[in-house]
Amino acid sequence: MDALRIRGGRRLTGTLRVDGSKNAALPALAAALLADGPVTLRGVPMLEDTINMTRLLSELGCTVDVDGATVTIETTDPSRIHAPYDIVRTMRASICTLGPLLAARGEARVAMPGGCAIGDRPVDLHLRGLQALGATVTLESGDMVVRADKLRGTTVFMGGPFGSTVLGTANVLCAAVRAEGETIIESAACEPEVAFVAKMLRAMGADISGEGTPRIHVRGVDSLSGIDMEIMPDRIVAGTLAVAAAITNGDVTLERFPADHLVAALDRLSEAGVHVQRSDESEPADACTVTISTDRRLKPILFTTQPHPGFPTDLQAQVMSLLCLADGNSIVTEKIYPDRFLHVPELTRMGATLIRQGPTVVVQGVDELIGAPVMASDLRGSAALVLAGLAARGETLIRRIYHLDRGYLGLERQLASLGAAIERFDGGPT
Ligand code: EPU
Repeated sequence: MDALRIRGGRRLTGTLRVDGSKNAALPALAAALLADGPVTLRGVPMLEDTINMTRLLSELGCTVDVDGATVTIETTDPSRIHAPYDIVRTMRASICTLGPLLAARGEARVAMPGGCAIGDRPVDLHLRGLQALGATVTLESGDMVVRADKLRGTTVFMGGPFGSTVLGTANVLCAAVRAEGETIIESAACEPEVAFVAKMLRAMGADISGEGTPRIHVRGVDSLSGIDMEIMPDRIVAGTLAVAAAITNGDVTLERFPADHLVAALDRLSEAGVHVQRSDESEPADACTVTISTDRRLKPILFTTQPHPGFPTDLQAQVMSLLCLADGNSIVTEKIYPDRFLHVPELTRMGATLIRQGPTVVVQGVDELIGAPVMASDLRGSAALVLAGLAARGETLIRRIYHLDRGYLGLERQLASLGAAIERFDGGPT
């Protein structure tokens, strides 16, 4: 099993370009099921989840052509409607096919996803939204089966106890574009990845407005056509690279940086003493060039993860690593997944002082982190360990980095190109 060896203490310098977004690519690939012609998506990060999604689309009667980072999908057998458990259990985002299949084929059978390392991840809001549009929902042999002869537009409320649901909003949106009449999605997720899917659907011929706000209007259309589109840059990869620059006291330029999608995170980083300087104000704020540098000693901060445009849960772990080296006590509260703290005991093994009480962690800044053997247990927690390793004195060995590979395309190659001493090796069976 692959592992990473990092010798910490090197200052990162140089330039990188931010890859396409995994969390935009996954629902966008699934939305291709709605098109009557070929859909070409460019800049798709070919990670385990996106590769699994292309496999699932083949299972679902599509021809899928992959050429580097360009994926072209075309439906050839619309009778296929089953996303089986052996694919769903390896890729939770299989659930993105529910709305598109229902709208395009009148029926979807998607295995109910199981548990997840970062906590409970129910799907009740997805199902309730599709039911509101007129679908019947049953559970058969562990599969969610949704059926509708005809979907009808209505008002759908997507809010839940932890805010709105990102993929649930994408599912309802994909169903509503083919429903008869008008749908209003209230308390819609405002995440940029949902807005991206809305833009893609509009390019395919859908009538949508209000994406990126909590109220999305959709007027159903009879058919959607193929398109050719570039996937937006990955705001979480961008944020992770920014923290890599900051934690090594580096000076790094990031191209295609989605500053506009990271407003809350950049506000907190700036409060801590990280400078993110745009070099050309004429570039679009969702794909601009920035240079990251840092004050010598970071200040402690307070942050709480929230739905967009709040601080993203997917950057909580990485920023916690940075705060381990701030000059004082920081407070981190997780409001989306209250148990998303698998990185806490591992950072503690590296000399961090972290006190967890329920969904809150007090981070007592220390003068240095010390390299240690640690274990990755989830995607963003793994990235946090890599970042800590970059700053730590001595050697850090991170095992089970298949978690990291789910969301970062060759992160160690990118960091090495900035001067990090990091290498992948075969860490044996565990
Ligand atoms: N929730 C419900 N009921 C539902 C759906 C969600 O109660 O039916 C709860 C969840 O348990 C959670 C909150 O609502 O507490 C938000 O979950 P959401 O549905 O928004 O998450 P998701 O759509 O399944 C996407 C990303 C996650 C990211 C979250 C939140 C993808 C493929 N995944 O998941 O990304 O953390 O939104 O922003 O887009 C990651 O990339 O590391 C990752 C986990």
